[in-house]
Amino acid sequence: MTSTPPDLHAPGLEARITPALEAVEASLQDSVRGSRDLVDELTSHLARAGGKRIRPVLTLVCAQLGDPELAVSDNVIAAATAMELTHLASLYHDDVMDSAPTRRGVPSAQHLWGNNRAILAGDVLFARASKLIAQLGPDSVSYHADTFERLCLGQLDETFGPVPGSDPVEFYVHVLADKTGSLLSAAAHFGAFHGGAGLEVADVVATFGERIGVAFQVADDVLDLVSSEETSGKTPGTDLREGVDTLPVLLLRRREAAGTLDGEGEGILADLAGDLSSDEALAAVVARLRAHDVIEETRALANRWADDAVAALEPLPDGEPKQALTAFAHLMVDRIA
Ligand code: IPE
Ligand code: IPE
Ligand code: MG
Ligand code: MG
Repeated sequence: MTSTPPDLHAPGLEARITPALEAVEASLQDSVRGSRDLVDELTSHLARAGGKRIRPVLTLVCAQLGDPELAVSDNVIAAATAMELTHLASLYHDDVMDSAPTRRGVPSAQHLWGNNRAILAGDVLFARASKLIAQLGPDSVSYHADTFERLCLGQLDETFGPVPGSDPVEFYVHVLADKTGSLLSAAAHFGAFHGGAGLEVADVVATFGERIGVAFQVADDVLDLVSSEETSGKTPGTDLREGVDTLPVLLLRRREAAGTLDGEGEGILADLAGDLSSDEALAAVVARLRAHDVIEETRALANRWADDAVAALEPLPDGEPKQALTAFAHLMVDRIA
């Protein structure tokens, strides 16, 4: 895993956070071990495999908004590490829920060790995140608990599906805000707060984090269809096979309900209702969706969420941290440009 921040168009800030990111990486690699070798191999599996580390990077960038003395303090490093550990815990569990064969370019934990061990590994990682957050005091413990509660409720709502009578697209965005936005929001909040920027600024970046979380997850829905397994490290169409309607499919259904769906779109919905258990059938429906203009509509929505995130930064003073956060928001959706 590299400890270089992404290009954030803020060279001074990038130079300041690079050593901090290395400290987070060391602390993370330490936190995913601590038991006997057999267990460590399981709990360190995904951290070793790679990952973009966007949550710790966000914490470190937001910590640059406060007191320079606190920007790379032990508390900020602990918070950034805990954000990645919480994310990791959710990935172990998510891959069980989604029966995902690959993650970060390697076989998923449950594929190698089975569901029971993958679930328990996620629990261990969450416990280690909690321990780090405990160093930051009771308010942070409570904030972290609220965040994880929202993340899990988002995952649960995804499985239960829309509340009857609600708009399925709106419900979906609420699921994304909960399951993904909540942790990015907390990553930003913890950085600003423990970097000494004060609660007002922490609130501003929390809103920003939540919105980029939605942008990011909508972009992820597009990537699930348009990128190869080599690029994304995940199996294309995993959500479709599991019957999870991601945004492109929901937008097709919305067109169907409005009577504006074209013949190709109707064909795709029919394919989705059929048997997708063979790799050929899944690849065929992924290819049809990829070629449909609903992908453009989904891209446009991702970009709109990224723009809304940048708009939330308005109260912040101009300077490198704001510049870096703006670049960060664009990075979330540039993956699908
Ligand atoms: C994947 O997150 C899970 C989502 C919330 C979309 P990332 O895309 O940040 O995954 P890694 O950490 O880089 O593997
Ligand atoms: C992951 O959601 C969200 C969390 C882990 C909380 P998805 O299931 O949509 O993401 P990927 O595609 O597996 O990364
Ligand atoms: Mg998944
Ligand atoms: Mg999932």
